Amino acid sequence: MAEFSLPRNSKVKKGKHWPAPQGATRVRRFQVYRWNPDDGQNPQVDTYEVDLDKCGPMVLDALIKIKNEIDPTLTFRRSCREGVCGSCAMNIDGTNTLACTRGMDELPGGDIKVYPLPHMPVVKDLVPDLTHFYAQYASIQPWMQTQSPAPDRERLQSHEDRVKLDGLYECILCACCSTACPSYWWNGDRYLGPAVLLQAYRWIADSRDEMTGERLDNLEDPFRLYRCHTIMNCAKTCPKGLNPGKAIGEIKKLMVERRT
Ligand code: SF4
Ligand code: SF4
Ligand code: FES
Repeated sequence: MAEFSLPRNSKVKKGKHWPAPQGATRVRRFQVYRWNPDDGQNPQVDTYEVDLDKCGPMVLDALIKIKNEIDPTLTFRRSCREGVCGSCAMNIDGTNTLACTRGMDELPGGDIKVYPLPHMPVVKDLVPDLTHFYAQYASIQPWMQTQSPAPDRERLQSHEDRVKLDGLYECILCACCSTACPSYWWNGDRYLGPAVLLQAYRWIADSRDEMTGERLDNLEDPFRLYRCHTIMNCAKTCPKGLNPGKAIGEIKKLMVERRT
């Protein structure tokens, strides 16, 4: 798993501390980033002590317990609780990952630090603003596009061509990779980042899609594609075990091939 420093923010101060309930014997302490950009206060890190004997095993279980039983103001996203929707992506102990699939016992001992995905605007606490990320996703037109007349039944694909989509279609758009990518940190306004480029390649690689040339034209740009410097933080952090850096490399290869 990739670990990287969170942006230093000298204005993040120590916040409130909720001690463990009396009699709890197995306690884990969580340091959680809290910020409401609308209330005029600086961000702070609150400390919650959770009784592990009365909590599920995942980091998300602890966050839900904190919200339900200790501090209802804590704000985070979650939906599926099984690594499918991507909504609980956050930075846990320095790694971007899914809170619902990260077991507390997988983390080193000591306090568990929970922050929002780095280098994104914060809506509140652990909720990043993904508006720009989704707009970039829309810009690659993530659906099958064809020009030939529609067949009587569905457009068929050989088994070999279908296999080419393995490692691509499984992406849940959690944004862990893009927010772990230094190039995306510094140029995210123009660089599409690993998640969106992996999705772009997913359609380029689909044998049924007939807009490959236009899709490559759309990416042929010094910023949209070529800010990737193969640092590979993206592959190290992806909670689904995907390799966006490799997909980006495949797009670059196609760019070279069509020029020669
Ligand atoms: S490639 Fe992995 S880390 Fe990136 S958005 Fe998709 S599932 Fe998340
Ligand atoms: S390989 Fe490319 S996309 Fe992945 S982290 Fe590095 S620069 Fe970013
Ligand atoms: S809640 Fe859906 S991926 Fe974690």
